[in-house]
Amino acid sequence: MNEEQSDTPAIAVLVSGRGSNLDAIFRAIEQGDLHARVALVISSRADAPALDIARQHGADTVVVAPKSYGSRAEAGAAIIAALTAAQVDAIALAGFKPILDASVIEAYPDRILNVHPSLLPAFAGGMAPRPQADALAAGVKLSGCTVHIVTADVDAGPIVAQAAVPVLEDDTVETLSARILVEEHRLLPLTLEWLLSGRLQIEDGRARLAPDTVSAH
Ligand code: GRF
Repeated sequence: MNEEQSDTPAIAVLVSGRGSNLDAIFRAIEQGDLHARVALVISSRADAPALDIARQHGADTVVVAPKSYGSRAEAGAAIIAALTAAQVDAIALAGFKPILDASVIEAYPDRILNVHPSLLPAFAGGMAPRPQADALAAGVKLSGCTVHIVTADVDAGPIVAQAAVPVLEDDTVETLSARILVEEHRLLPLTLEWLLSGRLQIEDGRARLAPDTVSAH
């Protein structure tokens, strides 16, 4: 690690699949919108396309496949060991499928963000594309995405930011998901920047955003 790297906050991104949110994080860093470096990408699958994206950007990668461990706690210990070695300041769950062991959440209190493809608390719980399919089936006219702090209660931590999109008459799961994904790619890097710059405050289970004193000058 050179001197410039050690001054830049380090993040880990946890993935399981396609990796479009990981790609959005790399793009936000390259464009100067997110002041961070991806110190580590952890995948729960060795064949996740997200790993190729990580490698293309020169990020270190680790595979922690749940089936290789005897329990969720053992997988959690492997994740904590990798995060500790990479000295990360914050973590983004970007399509990470396994439920994170409580030990990981306890090791990084209020430092883990997750992006979920619905307007929470509606359609919590399932992995994409289930929330989008459930939104279509329910006939809601607005859907969107939520970035929240990860707590022990799945998809129920303090809401940091949300973006709404219309649900159109002829939407399919694919077209609705694509519209939501555009907003995910905007919100996840933005909220990571808020977290790393110290603007996010969690009080009484609610996330509050302090004024931006840096860009205001
Ligand atoms: C996204 O829809 C995200 O909201 C959900 O999983 C999907 C991940 O997509 N948690 P990608 O791997 O970032 O392309």
